[in-house]
Order: sequence, then C-alpha cells, then structure tokens
Amino acid sequence: MRRFALTLLPCAAAVLVHLWLAHRRSSTPPDCAPLSDEPLPFYEVLVGVLSARHHHELRQAIRETWLGYIRDHPHFQHRVEVKFIVGNHGCDVPEEDREDPYSCSLLNFSEPVTGQDAEIETVVVTDPSVLAPADVSAVALDFKVLHPVVVTKLGVFSSSSRAELHGNVTVKLLQLDQEEAVVTARFSPASTGTMLNWVWYKPVEQFILPKGFEGTLVWESADSAALTTVDASSVKLSDGGGVLKISSIAEGVLPHRSALGFPGLAGGFTFTIYDGDGLAELLRGRPARMESHASRLRREDAALQEESLRHGDMVLVDVVDTYRNVPSKLLQFYKWSVENTAFSLLLKADDDCYIDVDSVLLKIDHKALKRRHFWWGNFRQNWAVDRIGKWQELEYASPAYPAFACGSGYVVSQDLVQWLAGNADKLKAYQGEDVSMGIWMAAVGPQKYQDAGWLCEKECYADMLSSPQHTAEELRSLWDRKRVCGDPCGCLWDP
Ligand SMILES: *[C@@H]1O[C@H](CO)[C@@H](O)[C@H](O)[C@H]1NC(C)=O
Ligand SMILES: *[C@@H]1O[C@H](CO)[C@@H](O)[C@H](O)[C@H]1NC(C)=O
Repeated sequence: MRRFALTLLPCAAAVLVHLWLAHRRSSTPPDCAPLSDEPLPFYEVLVGVLSARHHHELRQAIRETWLGYIRDHPHFQHRVEVKFIVGNHGCDVPEEDREDPYSCSLLNFSEPVTGQDAEIETVVVTDPSVLAPADVSAVALDFKVLHPVVVTKLGVFSSSSRAELHGNVTVKLLQLDQEEAVVTARFSPASTGTMLNWVWYKPVEQFILPKGFEGTLVWESADSAALTTVDASSVKLSDGGGVLKISSIAEGVLPHRSALGFPGLAGGFTFTIYDGDGLAELLRGRPARMESHASRLRREDAALQEESLRHGDMVLVDVVDTYRNVPSKLLQFYKWSVENTAFSLLLKADDDCYIDVDSVLLKIDHKALKRRHFWWGNFRQNWAVDRIGKWQELEYASPAYPAFACGSGYVVSQDLVQWLAGNADKLKAYQGEDVSMGIWMAAVGPQKYQDAGWLCEKECYADMLSSPQHTAEELRSLWDRKRVCGDPCGCLWDP
C-alpha cells in the first residue's frame, strides 16, 4: 500500500505542476518568458481579438457565441485558441483633461497667466539680428487648439535692417486640409499695419477657434526676398500656457504632404483665450476629477483581473489602452503569441466582430491555406491618408496607404507574426492598426490572398466569414440565426 502511494505521489505532483503551469500561462504577463523545457501548446489557428478594457459585454457576447462554440467543439477546441487582447493599463487622465479622445495626453495648461481678453503674442523678437531674409516664397506653421482661442491679428516680420517691408506678403489662417482661408491679412510696403516687437500686425475678423481646431498659418509672397524668417532656436513661441500646440519649426523638418509652405515662421499672430473662466474652472476641478478617476481605474483593474482569472482567455499587454495605442497592442500580442504558443496561422479580429468559425476552418482546409509568407484578408487599395480627425496621419508622407486588410478579420502566417514580434520594438506605429499592418507588411511583401468574405463594413451575407461593428445583442442574434437555420442574416420565420 505504501509502495503504491509512493509511486502515486510524483504523478499527483506532476498533475499539480501541470495545472499550475496551465494557469500561469493564461495569466502570465507577456514579458515573462515561458519555461524552455515545456513544449508550447500548438494550435492551427490562434485568434487574437482586440478589445478595449471596458468592453466586457462584447467579450461576454463573443464567449457565448463563436468563442463558446469553439471551446465546446470536440475538434475545434484543439485546433483553435482564442485570446482577447486588452491593455493592462487604463489611461490615468480623466476624459475631460485629455488633449483628444484618442490618446492619453494630459491637457497641460499652466494657470492662465494673463487676464481674460489680454492679447498674447505668439512670438516676441527683442533683437532684430535674429531675423534673416527667407529663401522660399511660402512658409507655414501648423498648430492645434487645445482650449478655444480668438485670433485677433496676423503679422509679418519686418526686414531686419530697417523696420519696413521689402514686398507684398499675404498671411492666411486656414483650417488644415481646407482651401478657403478663415482670415487673411495683406501687407505691402505702402500698407504695413502697426509694428510691435519687430512684427507688423493687421487686425482680422475675430472667430472663435474651438478645441480640436487644427490650423495652419501661411505666409506667402510673390516677390523674392519679401519674406523674413527667424532662426527657430533663437525665439521661444508662446502657446498661451498650453492652449495652443504649435508644431516644430526646427531646422530640417520635412513638410507634410498637404503643407502649403516650408515649416517655419515669417511673422506671428496675436490671440486671446476664449472663456478663461471655463479654463480656470477646469483646472480647479482637476484634482478631484483625478482622484475619482483613479479610483474608477482601480475598480476597472480589479474587474479585469477577475474576468481574466475566471475565463483564462485574456492577454493583458503592457500598453495604455487608448485608440492611438492599438497598433502597439497588436505588436505586443504578436510578441506574446510567439513566446507562449505554437501555431500555424493567426487570425486577428475585433471584439465587435461576428466570425463564422466553421467557414473559416473549412476554407483553410479546402483551399490549403496553411502557407508561409501568407496574408489572407479583404484588402483596401489606394486608400487616402487622412490629415485630420480620428484617422489623422501626419507621419506617413504618401498620399495613399499600401494595401491593407480591413480590420474585421484577417489571417497571417506564423512566420510573418514571428517577424513582426522580432521587430516589435522598432516598428513604427501609425494611426490605425489596420494601416500600420499594411505598412509593416509592405516591407516584407507577403503573398496576399484577397477574399471579400472578411467584410469591412457592418453588412450581412449568408456566406460571410466575418462582419464588424456589432453590438453584443447583434452578435448574439447573428449567431443564433446561424445556429438555427444556417443563415446569420435571417431565418424564414424571422419577423
Ligand atoms: C507640463 O508642462 C510643463 C511646462 O511646460 C512641463 O515641465 C511638464 O513636464 C508638463 N507635464 C506633463 C505631464 O506633460
Ligand atoms: C503690392 O500690393 C499693392 C497694394 O495691394 C499693389 O498695388 C501692388 O501692385 C503689389 N505689388 C506686386 C508686385 O504685386
């Protein structure tokens, strides 16, 4: 009896170790290397579902539909593994205190230095020797409004030698990517306006530029040598305590595609802060907001930990969970995937996507899609690069993106994921996860397999592979119809 117990013991211990490892694996942070002597679990298809931290309901709908189906299926449960990709850190800045809804940058205002209605000069030149003739005929300065302002005057630098103008100069304030100027001021040697700190100013019609307004100030002249610029390193621009975010005019900055001039300064403008009381109020309320936001984050952290432990289907990647960080989330997941599992294909989806698991797996078998250097998706081509708004992209200088698979679902081979994971720390994240993937893939040129079954928009076809942008309720009804009559879009007896 004793003998038997002795032989049993190591076995029981092994089971315990195994359980511990399995548990550890599902909840280990991604930077933890797996134990080298343990073979990695193998799946034909690893599914990564990008999911925002607060999308608990969507995750639950997926668990109760296509993920649950895989988990309970006698064969698929061994062929396919599904993981939600969630950022391990919430943004610690309350929504009201962020620069924009897509990132986690703090609206970093200093106390409004000047009283309400006080005009602020963006540039103050005290020593005219920093001014020099421009060698270009158009100079442009981009800026973004972080708290509403009113531009009151536009100005041009006087020529350095004497306080005068050497030709005609037009100064325009435009909204980025719009042709019509918001306001314009024209200067000529005979009509210079008034000078203040080596800048000739003319008043302009006063418009309130709202938070989020992205503008560009352009100085143009048909006369050569009429424009005067300043050495960027010798002046400090005033941003009104952070109400404006002014783009770099450092030497060597490459103008973006839609730029109307070379980055720089050929004058300045004056502005007032609109609703200074509102700004002061925002700053006064901040400490209390920060505190309640921090405690909300702690609750969210605890809920996510609990959800992750309960289901074992989440990978918490070391990223602040904001829209702009989604490309980094994806790269971190790729790193996790090659370090912690073995697989042939990786399917990327979003948490609002319906996926017809049977059709995807059937197609992989029937078309022999377990290939190398392979990317299967519904590709968008010649997609224009946006300069403004949610999809703003200032860093990718071409007018159009390289081909990219729309994000509702695509499949990449393991060797490509391996390459992405290996270069994750060097790959530049562009504005969206789908276009970033297209840019990264353009460097390695995989075999692209075009398939319209991965829908790019919220539509429904009986033979679709995936469909995006659904609510939790819609995901359930698509799935229910698919199970009942084989058509997710509607059964005969539907109302
Ligand atoms: C806010 O701005 C100040 C001065 O401009 C700077 O020193 C500080 O690092 C900034 N803080 C953050 C969180 O960006
Ligand atoms: C400069 O502007 C003045 C007044 O607007 C105009 O009369 C003159 O023709 C302009 N000169 C040139 C070279 O365009």
